[in-house]
Amino acid sequence: MISAAENAFFDTIANFDEFGKTTVMVPFVWEVDGITGTTLKAINEYWTSRQRQANSLHEISYRACFKPQLPEFFIQRLTTGGDAVYDPFMGRGTTPLEALLMGRKPMGNDINPLSQVLLSPRLNPPTIKEIEERLEAIDLSNADEEYEDLLHFYHKDTLREIISLKEYLLKREEEGTIDNIDAWIRMVAINRLTGHSSGFFSVYSLPPNQAVTAKRQKKINEQRNQVPDYRAIKPRILKKSKSLLKDWKGVRLDAFENDLTGVLSTSDSRKVLLIPDDSASLVVTSPPFLDIVDYQGDNWLRCWFIGVDSSTIEISQLKAIEDWEDTMTDVLKDLKRIVKPGGHIAFEVGEVRGGKVLLEENVVRCGVKAGLEPIIIMINDQEFTKTANAWGVDNSKKGTNTNRIVIFSVPERSDIISAIKHCVLSVINWWNADMLPLFESLYGESWKDFFSKISPKQITQEKTKLATTIFTNRLNSCIKRKLGDKFEIANDTSFDVTFNVNGEIYPVEQKLTTQPVNAKYHTWTGNHVSNKVGPHLLIRLEIDDNGKITGVYVGLLELDRCDITKWSSTKSDVNYATLKLRWSDRNQLQDILGKQLQQNSFIRFDYYRLDNSEEE
Ligand SMILES: C[S@@+](CC[C@H](N)C(=O)[O-])C[C@H]1O[C@@H](n2cnc3c(N)ncnc32)[C@H](O)[C@@H]1O
Repeated sequence: MISAAENAFFDTIANFDEFGKTTVMVPFVWEVDGITGTTLKAINEYWTSRQRQANSLHEISYRACFKPQLPEFFIQRLTTGGDAVYDPFMGRGTTPLEALLMGRKPMGNDINPLSQVLLSPRLNPPTIKEIEERLEAIDLSNADEEYEDLLHFYHKDTLREIISLKEYLLKREEEGTIDNIDAWIRMVAINRLTGHSSGFFSVYSLPPNQAVTAKRQKKINEQRNQVPDYRAIKPRILKKSKSLLKDWKGVRLDAFENDLTGVLSTSDSRKVLLIPDDSASLVVTSPPFLDIVDYQGDNWLRCWFIGVDSSTIEISQLKAIEDWEDTMTDVLKDLKRIVKPGGHIAFEVGEVRGGKVLLEENVVRCGVKAGLEPIIIMINDQEFTKTANAWGVDNSKKGTNTNRIVIFSVPERSDIISAIKHCVLSVINWWNADMLPLFESLYGESWKDFFSKISPKQITQEKTKLATTIFTNRLNSCIKRKLGDKFEIANDTSFDVTFNVNGEIYPVEQKLTTQPVNAKYHTWTGNHVSNKVGPHLLIRLEIDDNGKITGVYVGLLELDRCDITKWSSTKSDVNYATLKLRWSDRNQLQDILGKQLQQNSFIRFDYYRLDNSEEE
């Protein structure tokens, strides 16, 4: 269901003309496991290099980072002050930093520990004076580690200073005495390690986000006929610090009205345990685009400086599109857990393989599989920036000159009920229209004829088995696709069916004839659910003699204090099949359904009275 806010956002994108061009809309029709939909691609220049400069604090280099204007665009339009904004692939931390600068709570994750090292000091910067004093106090004359290969990049005295600083920082970290001033110095030093101007520690090389191997540096030196000259590191750190802090107004986290203390994590983005459920209002992120960028190789020197062997980090570099889709579906499922219902996810991918692979289309399918609603696909057609050309990226082959962003919404709680309704309805439609004829062609006779030949006891068992396997599997996959892992059909689900065969009723209780009435209900409950305590959503289907499903009831059940008699069949002229959907969070279920469903009672979805409403 599209909310008013989403409609407004959609209109903003559709009518956008801030940079003199009108938006072009192209429909994209997708199909996921038999479900189809259309999402519009909106093409325009939504942010541009001609726009006002972003805050100077962003200006550190990182491979495949996005411009701050990208997260700013979404933070501005889809959040308000104090909301949390998250990026599961944060890289240099463009999204969390921009979030903080806009008065939002920053949350981020990246599998590479380098990301936290690059971001956290910029969320809490020291003053220039503090940096200056600390630099003066650090002794750079003693270095233990020997690393001869690095002499292809650095003069021996520069290398001694770099290693001294590295060892000082690691020691402070080990002792737990590292503070935001040390952390700042470390972040800036990382950004000065290699580059091609005199502001860097190294002789001419590639930028720090793309360190070459020592062997390759040796070749560069030979080709350019260059020898590393001495570059004092302290003044270079100070100079870059001044330029980074140019726009920083000295505002600290606690100066904002809201508590903006963030959370940063170093995990695989498929399961980021440190980030709680329903904690973010918006995600703005950009994953690795297949295997286009070698994040491990490019960051080897930076990782060495922080004491990490980059080859041991399990960075996703997935060549096969199927593997990429599987990973991104899992990531989007975790984002669905993290983003509050009604919140949004802006998932950016670049142009890859010369435009032959339209990754944004794969992203839409991944999101639908994860249970998200695609709202719109934005294609930001921007001019390729000077910076990118200067770093020698060949735009037409390796570079990405358009940002392609799929905007998803996380379904509202009320939408959860509609999603369940949708799944149940589509499975019922399929059952009545396709499954029953299929049954007939498989068994050579109708449902009714087939079951009329066996004993009443067997009938119950056989029908239960059949219905359980077929209906449950189908419903389960639909619910998982729409709602993700918050739901499951309980492992112990059985269709507890009361069947009406040839006018005689064989309810499930028939199986327990030796028990007195009340006890038999409780035994039944105990047998089926004793190890599955917790809130469940019950879906009860009415099935007629011919196997056709004729109606649906939904109920709420607390299995630890269930009085089965209250929700057991009260009507004896119809067959029932009851499914239990286990909910992972009791409070959440109460929140969601409390107003709509009474404990131990059913509501009927008239919509599903297929025999009445649909055929009339
Ligand atoms: C395109 S970059 C993100 C750049 C970021 N938007 C920025 O502005 O700096 C992708 C990031 O994903 C990280 N990454 C790759 N595989 C990951 C995984 N499985 N879990 C978490 N992060 C991962 C890489 O380390 C890299 O920093």
